[in-house]
Amino acid sequence: MAISTDLILAKKLLEKGQLVAIPTETVYGLAGNALDPLAVAAIFETKNRPSFDPLIIHVASIDEVATYCSEFPEPLRKLASAFWPGPLTLLLPKTSQIPDLVTSGLDRVAIRVPNHPQTLALLQSLDFPLAAPSANPFGYISPTTPEHVNAQLGEFIPMILDGGTCKVGLESTIVGMEGDDVVIYRLGGLEIDAIESIAGKVKLQDHSSSNPQAPGLLESHYAPAKPFVLGDLTKLIPHYTSQGKSFGVLSFQNFSKEVALEKQLRLSQNGNLKEAAANLFAAMRSLDGMNIEFILAELVPDHDLGKAINDRLKRASAKRG
Ligand code: TXA
Ligand code: MG
Repeated sequence: MAISTDLILAKKLLEKGQLVAIPTETVYGLAGNALDPLAVAAIFETKNRPSFDPLIIHVASIDEVATYCSEFPEPLRKLASAFWPGPLTLLLPKTSQIPDLVTSGLDRVAIRVPNHPQTLALLQSLDFPLAAPSANPFGYISPTTPEHVNAQLGEFIPMILDGGTCKVGLESTIVGMEGDDVVIYRLGGLEIDAIESIAGKVKLQDHSSSNPQAPGLLESHYAPAKPFVLGDLTKLIPHYTSQGKSFGVLSFQNFSKEVALEKQLRLSQNGNLKEAAANLFAAMRSLDGMNIEFILAELVPDHDLGKAINDRLKRASAKRG
């Protein structure tokens, strides 16, 4: 397995139907030729992902939507013009070019133009789009560095395209339409306010584990292996201390005086939500790797990117199984 910046090698591997982990501004993706059902099947297998959970396709520019989607409703076209390349995924009716496996048999395909120079150059050099879910085993925390990908999927793939650390750090915001309504299906790296500034008032689709509207938006997701307890740290810390439990702490801005510093991570000393988003998944991973029994965490302010951060924190703490 190579961690490399070699775009020619990445192109060759993908053209042979193999998988390459690719950097994006949101998280690393596990990419394969979206038009090749065997490559798509290999993605599901490598991630251990159930085949009812569809994949996002990545294209080089808005012009490619016409090839893979049969309609482009005006509100979504405006959003694409405003925010692509960027952390926005659109659900659009698919053409027959897209294999049913990509969409898990659904009529709509999820499509986006990622904002990362190497991956855009790679997409421009290919004559097919890349299907790419986040490059983590199903249900685990999304990777934001090549090392994160390598730790879990390195042995199963020939190459990780090294594009450094992901700048946004949260997955894309997923948007589609229901009738005349613009609907957000997953909160993510593009804030609701930004979307509403272009598309007007949007609906937020509430998804639950019992009836996920977008399959894969399961309640327990983005989850560390260790129990992840979300609440008021000023109460959780004394409680777990008095029980004699070993734990690490994930806080928004402040360190706690009651806990050893090496057992604590904070998302942003200055309370900056963009910085907190960029640090979130790496912090969850390092706590998961510590010699502790529990991870204690708190919500961040619930506005702007804080809404998407809180969505991930709640899913990380949701009961499994
Ligand atoms: O930022 C991102 O979106 C990253 C990077 C790699 O682009 N990708 C990503 O993919 O987060 P993934 O597969 O981990 O999450 C995609 C989500 C899943 O929850 C899936 O259920 C939903 O998008 N999805 C994909 N296609 C869909 C479709 N046709 N209809 C409804 N939901 C869909
Ligand atoms: Mg994912």
